[in-house]
Amino acid sequence: MSASPSKKLRSQLWFDNPANPDMTSLYLERYLNFGLTREELQGGKPIIGIAQTGSDLSPCNRGHLDLAHRVRDGIRAMGGVPLEFPVHPIQETGKRPTASLDRNLAYLGLVEVLYGYPLDGVVLTTGCDKTTPACLMAAATVNIPAIVLSGGPMLNGYWKGQLAGSGTVVWNAREQFARGEISYDEMMDMVASSAPSVGHCNTMGTASTMNALAEALGMSLPFCAAIPAPYRERGQIAYETGRRIVDMVHEDLKPSDIMTREAFENVIVACSAIGGSTNAPIHINAIARHIGVELSIDDWERIGHKVPLLVNMQPAGHYLGEEYHRAGGLPAVVAELMKHGLIHEGAKTVNGKSIGENCRAVTIGDQDVIRSFEAPLKAEAGFIVLKGNLFDSAIMKTSVISPEFRDRYLSDPNDPEAFVGRAVVFDGPEDYHHRIDDPALAIDENTILFMRGTGPIGYPGAAEVVNMRAPDYLLKRGIKALPCIGDGRQSGTSGSPSILNASPEAAAGGGLAVLKTGDKVRIDLRKRTADILISDAEMAERRADLQGHGGYAFPASQTPWQEIQRSMVDQLSDGMVLKPAVKYQ
Ligand code: FES
Ligand code: MG
Repeated sequence: MSASPSKKLRSQLWFDNPANPDMTSLYLERYLNFGLTREELQGGKPIIGIAQTGSDLSPCNRGHLDLAHRVRDGIRAMGGVPLEFPVHPIQETGKRPTASLDRNLAYLGLVEVLYGYPLDGVVLTTGCDKTTPACLMAAATVNIPAIVLSGGPMLNGYWKGQLAGSGTVVWNAREQFARGEISYDEMMDMVASSAPSVGHCNTMGTASTMNALAEALGMSLPFCAAIPAPYRERGQIAYETGRRIVDMVHEDLKPSDIMTREAFENVIVACSAIGGSTNAPIHINAIARHIGVELSIDDWERIGHKVPLLVNMQPAGHYLGEEYHRAGGLPAVVAELMKHGLIHEGAKTVNGKSIGENCRAVTIGDQDVIRSFEAPLKAEAGFIVLKGNLFDSAIMKTSVISPEFRDRYLSDPNDPEAFVGRAVVFDGPEDYHHRIDDPALAIDENTILFMRGTGPIGYPGAAEVVNMRAPDYLLKRGIKALPCIGDGRQSGTSGSPSILNASPEAAAGGGLAVLKTGDKVRIDLRKRTADILISDAEMAERRADLQGHGGYAFPASQTPWQEIQRSMVDQLSDGMVLKPAVKYQ
């Protein structure tokens, strides 16, 4: 399509508004100072933002600094004008106290840019965990034409001939170090081996999950998410993405046309099939709230639980990003799900076609990497949602429950899905690191580890700490995974079967606040319950006592943003959004 818009472009309000020559001249002149011409800015060409999430502080997304050149080429080829700008960095592994503190900050910043500057459409450069939801949340709020360009995973990592996957290798290295099998330097080398190139995590952690789900949502071109960062196809799809956004502006194809309830249901189904991260419900629910689609935490179990795990990728399976890409990526998974009627095929995507049209003819390139529905890695791979006197909701990824874990905890023939354990309670990650190896806690295989004070308010942004390793003295005995429960999050690269994202959190009056070390707790995975085994009277007494002491105590804020977010953030089950932001749609 040519650059002859049928309707006035949004950017013309700034750059070509004869009704207001004074302001137009002011808006225009400074954008000419680096060499743009009046013809470019006043000639009816779509002005396309490139929301740049890469920087030296954000190595996972740093490849976007180069990719943006190909995006610009694509935008120019279709008669658009690119304007690149920075997004507040959100580096998962570098930001203290936690990168998720900044998801909503980057969202707010991007909303202001998209709303307040002369942009007709935007390319969202995504990758590291929170960059994808932050960008999509902002696109949802402002609702101008937007398209996702994933940065792609790193190449496969190898350690001593074995695949070494992002994050997953850290858990393994830490266990080997605790057992004295490797030195400090070997531990550093082992972990670094998982990061051989630019790109985001190469496991099906939160980054690969969220980029795959952006594609399932219809917000990126087909096949975009899985292409490894250094592959030539990555540069090629950057070019195609730049071309496509210009036409999206001419077609006025907006996020609200794409991110519908049907699209979100597709996302939930796809998340189970790929073995997606437990962070996905938080971020996807947040995007839904900003675009105004009803989506609840219960929808995740109702729509997603019975879906089988098809993608054989770490942490739930074996392979890494390169094999997944070669096997067909998200379109091959969707095609397989479509054969079983699990996808709303009519949901529209950014290329103007439906997801059904995009994926129907795609075949699986490697049947061991992407399994058929008939030979899945696991049946019923979605999340379950638990409730009880400890919390109103918490989620569990049942697909990562190992056979040893099942044998140890879920083998009572009379009650195969329930177990009772003795609680050992930690107040935040510092308390945990301090005391986990203390023999006085008497942690054994009947212990359930609890982590509280780590929700969006308690540990601003919600810490990724619920998956706790067992103490060194148990690791030495070969016991790796104890049941863990908490009001924080868990790394998407962790293979622990934790119960997490408990809402409300202790700091917001949740039941975890009254739990004491030594309490008996009963978990029933079949009934979906988790309860402290104390009487209602005792529960009421403990609650009254807590209130008498001013409620659950948590550390003071260290920065202005921590304080601001804490004053208005919602719980994990509802997307951890800033409550006042939801009404702007
Ligand atoms: Fe950035 Fe995993 S740490 S993608
Ligand atoms: Mg993470």
